[in-house]
Amino acid sequence: MYWCAIILAAAPAVFCSGFAKGAGQPLQAAVPIPSSCPGVTATSSYSLTAAEGWRYTLLATGLSKPRTVLFDTEGHLLVLEAGKGLTAHTIGADGCITASKTVIENVQLNHGLALSPDGKTAYVSAMPTAWSYSYDATTMTATGQTVVVRGMNPRGHKARTLAVPPNNPNLLIVSLGSEGNIDGPAIMKETSRAIVKVFDLSKTPSGGYTYNTQGWYLGYGLRNEVGIIFDGNNMVWGVENSGDQLTRNTGGTSVDVHIDNPAEELNYLGDPAKSNEQWYGYPTCWTVGNPSGIPDKSFKVGDQFMISPNSTFNDAACAERSIPPRLTMQAHSAPIDGKFNEDFTNLYVSLHGSWNRQPAAGYKIIQIPFRKLDNSSYEPVASADNPKGYSDILWTQNEGSCSSSTCLRPTGITWHPDHSRMYVASDGPVGEIYILYKTS
Ligand SMILES: *[C@@H]1O[C@H](CO)[C@@H](O)[C@H](O)[C@H]1NC(C)=O
Ligand SMILES: *[C@@H]1O[C@H](CO)[C@@H](O)[C@H](O)[C@H]1NC(C)=O
Repeated sequence: MYWCAIILAAAPAVFCSGFAKGAGQPLQAAVPIPSSCPGVTATSSYSLTAAEGWRYTLLATGLSKPRTVLFDTEGHLLVLEAGKGLTAHTIGADGCITASKTVIENVQLNHGLALSPDGKTAYVSAMPTAWSYSYDATTMTATGQTVVVRGMNPRGHKARTLAVPPNNPNLLIVSLGSEGNIDGPAIMKETSRAIVKVFDLSKTPSGGYTYNTQGWYLGYGLRNEVGIIFDGNNMVWGVENSGDQLTRNTGGTSVDVHIDNPAEELNYLGDPAKSNEQWYGYPTCWTVGNPSGIPDKSFKVGDQFMISPNSTFNDAACAERSIPPRLTMQAHSAPIDGKFNEDFTNLYVSLHGSWNRQPAAGYKIIQIPFRKLDNSSYEPVASADNPKGYSDILWTQNEGSCSSSTCLRPTGITWHPDHSRMYVASDGPVGEIYILYKTS
C-alpha cells in the first residue's frame, strides 16, 4: 500500500504513506519525500528536467565522487565515495539527511560496494582487491577487514563492481573491465580482463581468492560491464561501456564511425550460480548503434560488426560467434548502474555521459520497459534492433553541450526500502545525491 499527496503551501512538500517490508525488517513508518532539504543548495550550475509525472529533490551535495549507493537494514543510506571510503547517512523524519558518518576510511576505494542479503556483511573494492567487513547497521560500523578477492589487474578501467545475488548470500560477482580502449589480449578470457567472475563466499580460501585463476565466469568479451543488475528471477544483466574513436576499415578505406557506433550494451549474463563461458564479442565484434554511420554494408541496430574485417574473420563470423546485447543504448552515453522497480516492469539506468562525442550524450537517467514472458523470463519490451527502447526520466538541459565538468554525472542508483523513491548519485562536477520519484 503506497500513496503520495503533493501539498502546495508556503513550503511545498510531498507526503507519502507506506511501509518498508524488507525481509526480516521491522515495519517502519513511512518517511516523507522532501521537496527540499534544509541547508542543501545546488552549487552546480546545470539545470535538470524530470519527465512528466516525475520529480527530483537534491538530498546531499559536496560528497567525494559518490559511485555506489545502498540502504542498510536500519534505513541508513550507504555511499561509496571514491577516494574517501564508505559513508553512512541517517535519514531523518523529514526525509533529509540528519547525520553522516565515515564507516570505512580508505582512499583506494573507488566504486564497488555490496551488502549481503541479511545486511550483516559489507563488500568494498579497490582496483586490485575486494574486501569484506562485518557490518553493524545499528551503529554503522564495519569491523574485521578480510581480503575476499585479490590480484585483480591494477591498470585500465577502474571500477571493480561488486554484487551479491538477493537470493544467494554465498555468491560474490566481480566485474573487471579491459586494460584500454581496444585490449587485444582480452579476447582470451584467461587474461581475466573484460570479464565478469563469480566467487563462492562459503569457501573463500585464507588470504582470499586469486581473481585470475579462481572462481567461474559470468561471460567474457565484456569491455567494461560497470553495472551488474538482478531481475525478478535473480538472473544477471550487465550494462556495458563500449569502445571509443572507432573507425571501420574495409576495401582500403577508413571511415570514422564513432559518433553513434558502437552502441552501449544491455547484456543478459544469466544465472550467477552457473558458469557462463559465452563470448560477448570484445575486442573483435562491436555492436551497431546507427547503421547509417557504417555505410559500406547494410546493418541493423544491434548487429555485430568488425572494425577491420579480413579473410579469416569478418562480420558474419561475429554474427555467428558473438553474443549480441539484448538492447542497445546511445553510443558513449556510459551506463554505470541500473535497478529494477518493485514489479520488474522497468529498469532504471544511469548514463554517466560522453567525453568523446559531439554533440555530447548521456548525463541522464533512463527507463527501460521490461516484461515477463510466459516461461517466467524477463526481457526488455523493445526488440534488439530498436535504437530507442527506453525513455528519459531525469536529464541535464542542453545535453549536447555537456561535459564532465559542467553536467550531472549519474552513477549509483538505489531504491528506498519502501520503493517510494530512488536515490541517484552523481560523481561530478560536485558530488551529489538526488531523490527521484513519481508523482503520478
Ligand atoms: C583477422 O582478424 C582476426 C580478429 O581480429 C585476427 O585474429 C586475425 O589475425 C586477422 N587475420 C588476418 C589475416 O589479418
Ligand atoms: C524463455 O523464452 C525466451 C523467448 O523464447 C527465451 O529466449 C528464453 O531463453 C526462455 N527462458 C527460459 C528460462 O527458458
